[in-house]
Amino acid sequence: MERIVVMGAGNLAHALVQGWQRVPNPPWSVAVLARSDSYLDKGWRPWPAPISTDPAILSESDLVVLAVKPKDVNAALQTVSQEAGPAVPVLSMVAGLALATLRRHLPHAPLARAMPNICSAVGEGVTAVAFDRMASSERAEIRRLLEALGDVVEVEEALLDPITALSGSGPAYAYVLLEALIEAGERLGLDPVLARRLSVQTLRGAAALAQAEPQLSPADLIRLIASPGGTTEAALDRLADEGVKRAVCEAIFQARLQAQRLGSHPSA
Ligand SMILES: NC(=O)c1ccc[n+]([C@@H]2O[C@H](COP(=O)([O-])OP(=O)(O)OC[C@H]3O[C@@H](n4cnc5c(N)ncnc54)[C@H](OP(=O)(O)O)[C@@H]3O)[C@@H](O)[C@H]2O)c1
Repeated sequence: MERIVVMGAGNLAHALVQGWQRVPNPPWSVAVLARSDSYLDKGWRPWPAPISTDPAILSESDLVVLAVKPKDVNAALQTVSQEAGPAVPVLSMVAGLALATLRRHLPHAPLARAMPNICSAVGEGVTAVAFDRMASSERAEIRRLLEALGDVVEVEEALLDPITALSGSGPAYAYVLLEALIEAGERLGLDPVLARRLSVQTLRGAAALAQAEPQLSPADLIRLIASPGGTTEAALDRLADEGVKRAVCEAIFQARLQAQRLGSHPSA
């Protein structure tokens, strides 16, 4: 899989390309297929890979990575089936798009469905992947590509909608928390730059500690910080009163429902 074409020049494609660019001397080349010049509007984030609006670039690809919105999937798959070879592997990253639906469009192609997240851009993503009719050598190559973007887990396809809700959308939940931390810091008198620096490193450090101590549950970790009658306990009591944990769980259930809806109406 030397020549990879990412279809869709959007936010996810940008993150993937950035992540793959971090690999020194990669055994692959990446090009991006855009539908229009709309990617130019994102000029504040220059494209780190060749980009084309000519679908003919698909004819030279060894792997097509599908990174379009669910509403654009049918048209995109039609283009893939017209332009790419019938046996070119396709790796879909489209939320909710079932392998069975992909199979109807691409009856002969080896298929994989993956759910990465935007943190792939800095090699700190996590991608869940399920395969359909892929040779073990192709699976290994796709795993290697995804591992360049961060952690990789191979799962049953049925888990991909829940994973979309949890870790596919997950960075956004972390950014809501980040926003709240920064806002609170500012309201407490810190300047915005300092508030952001302290908040970002706090989230990063909390995740790193949880990763370094897998035997400690989140509750164990909380006990390392909160002492009876202390500042942390006062804050945690308020979070419990506000139902923050329940709200986050419900939000993730809502996201899973939306992934299912998108899957049942891929062209809606
Ligand atoms: N963003 C994330 O964090 C994330 C994470 C995991 C999975 N995903 C999945 O990734 C997919 C893309 O999400 P996104 O956030 O990157 O969306 P996006 O920013 O809207 O990008 C999608 C891009 O695809 C282009 N496109 C549509 N049809 C095309 C075609 N036939 N050929 C070439 N390009 C085409 C669109 O072009 P126009 O500008 O002309 O419309 C748009 O630039 C979605 O299915 C989403 O579920 C996203």
